[in-house]
Amino acid sequence: MTDNNTKQDKVQVARDDAITRVTIWRPKRLNALDVDVLEGLTEAVNEAGHNGTRVMVISGSGEKAFVAGADIGMMEHFSPREALEFSRKGHELMLALDRAPFISVARVQGYALGGGCELAMACDLIVASENAVFGQPEVGLGLIPGFGGTQMLAARVGLSVAMDLAVTGRRLSGRDAAALGLVSRVTAHERLDEEVENTIAGILKGVPQAVIEAKRLVKQSLHMPFEYGLSSEASSFANCFDRQSSGEQQPNPLSRQGGETG
Ligand code: CAA
Repeated sequence: MTDNNTKQDKVQVARDDAITRVTIWRPKRLNALDVDVLEGLTEAVNEAGHNGTRVMVISGSGEKAFVAGADIGMMEHFSPREALEFSRKGHELMLALDRAPFISVARVQGYALGGGCELAMACDLIVASENAVFGQPEVGLGLIPGFGGTQMLAARVGLSVAMDLAVTGRRLSGRDAAALGLVSRVTAHERLDEEVENTIAGILKGVPQAVIEAKRLVKQSLHMPFEYGLSSEASSFANCFDRQSSGEQQPNPLSRQGGETG
């Protein structure tokens, strides 16, 4: 179902120095992802990639849902062609998050179903409330996950659990999702914002280039033979020591932490 709100109404962006907070604002539709929301999110991610953002937090409005999926009303009369375009629009967002030169954090309370679970999985970290409900219910609608779920699930939870979630539409609580490795951190609902802020602080403590290299290498490990991955890691590790040639004036963190050798 569409509404009269604009893209800017539906995707609200607030930047505070190195932190960009994005809120999907469709509370009456449980923040369902329509074309405006997908485009608005992709634009926010692309913009944040150029403005010094180090952490992006993505949240849903209201208490009931992070995102209850792709917009079912919008999809009801899709032709195969329109469905293909919609799926590709979702993929554009997931790829933008994958490649972004910052760390994305999904703040999940309530429902994260279908496209909502996929959006959360596309983020680097998921911080969830105990009241979160994750799932890929698409097969019940005669669909399959269309925003990358079939490709991201196994990397998060392994083949056995991924298969269970994808073919039965089984839902997971926040706690179960944490136990199965779908989410990074789970907390009591009233502590969710505090845990998100702890997570942000943890990311910001790291040296920016090192944090982004760590993201890149961890992601790449899923798709690269071990030997090549190690070789890539060694090059990146060496680059961390290339401070003089890059003219970096920052204090060397190794000097602060290292103490005496020998
Ligand atoms: N799209 C559009 N509208 C949605 C929606 C969605 N995915 N999910 C909820 N809404 C709307 C409802 O239609 C309802 O609107 P009205 O008040 O106008 O009737 C409103 O949000 C509140 O929802 P409910 O009254 O259903 O709330 P509830 O608490 O009884 O149930 C729920 C909550 C279990 C999440 C239920 O809304 C639900 O099952 N939603 C659909 C979840 C789903 O199947 N998601 C997958 C979509 S397919 C997909 O995502 C494909 C893909 O990968 C690309």
